[in-house]
Amino acid sequence: MSLYWRIFVLNAGVLVVAVLLLLGPVTVSTPVLFGEAVVLLAGLIVMVIANAVLLRVALAPLARLNRTMATVDLLKPGSRTTVTGPGEIAELTTSFNAMLARLEAERATSSGRALSAQEAERQRLARELHDEVGQTLTAVLLQLKHAADHAPRPVRDDLRQAQETTRAGLDEIRRIARRLRPGVLEELGLHSALRALTAEFTTSRLSATAHITPGLPRLDPATELVLYRVAQEGLTNTARHTHATRVEVHLRALPNARVGLLVRDNGPGIGAAPEGAGISGMRERALLIGAEFQIGQGPQDGTEIRLNVTGHAADDRTQETAR
Ligand SMILES: Nc1ncnc2c1ncn2[C@@H]1O[C@H](COP(=O)(O)OP(=O)(O)OP(=O)(O)O)[C@@H](O)[C@H]1O
Ligand SMILES: [Mg+2]
Repeated sequence: MSLYWRIFVLNAGVLVVAVLLLLGPVTVSTPVLFGEAVVLLAGLIVMVIANAVLLRVALAPLARLNRTMATVDLLKPGSRTTVTGPGEIAELTTSFNAMLARLEAERATSSGRALSAQEAERQRLARELHDEVGQTLTAVLLQLKHAADHAPRPVRDDLRQAQETTRAGLDEIRRIARRLRPGVLEELGLHSALRALTAEFTTSRLSATAHITPGLPRLDPATELVLYRVAQEGLTNTARHTHATRVEVHLRALPNARVGLLVRDNGPGIGAAPEGAGISGMRERALLIGAEFQIGQGPQDGTEIRLNVTGHAADDRTQETAR
């Protein structure tokens, strides 16, 4: 039955009951007696309440659809409204669900493009840092060494000092380039890259450890890059936002997923902190390879990030663009 007829029948039903009561047991004199007025008022209240309840039941599917529309988040895909209710509402719900599916697919494609552009730009920056600035500093280092070898003693110490400073600058540039482009991912594979990344976050107050189960299945480069970037953002957040003393990166096989990444710290926990570009970046990367992503409070205090790679990428094209 259409929504129009549903509401019409409900209202008509309430009115018919009211009229039947007036024709039957209820009598109204002129002027109205006190007892009759009380009965009429009580009848009116019952009618209004009955109408409100019936309308609420009839419009419940619309309210449900409205709630989903208000809370839907394309970065947490899969939320759909159950198709129920009269013709128009069922059609509206079906169209809305179809629109959500289309938007999610478009979002995955466009964030795939954006992320691949970002990766390409990072690679370019890393290459330029390494090839241009790195080479120039290496040349300066050699010139300083040459000058120091031939300089008189008082100047030599200054030149050695300048050499040390230049060497430190060169190391810093190499470190930045490595973070921008996880070259080690291509050269040594994900496991060594994760170990090297984790080791970089170990300081005197933070112990960062990587626990990688041996014999994990092979993953495609796009998935490996997503796992690496999610671990990187998780570790960066722990180092940046907490005074945690421990952070662990686990990569292991899961029963219902190919591989699971877990980044867990013993900081104060994420609480209700609003998500920034870092966390939404992790969600987008997860979407790109069809992985499940969760961030929240761990069983003890602290924050846990879980990325479960199920092996169903969003589609072949996004696999390609994630590269
Ligand atoms: N491991 C963590 N422990 C406690 N709070 C965290 C942790 N990770 C993130 N947060 C909180 O969540 C917020 C959002 O993190 P998110 O990575 O999205 O953004 P950000 O780190 O502030 O900025 P950026 O865009 O540079 O990553 C942070 O500002 C922080 O308050
Ligand atoms: Mg961050």
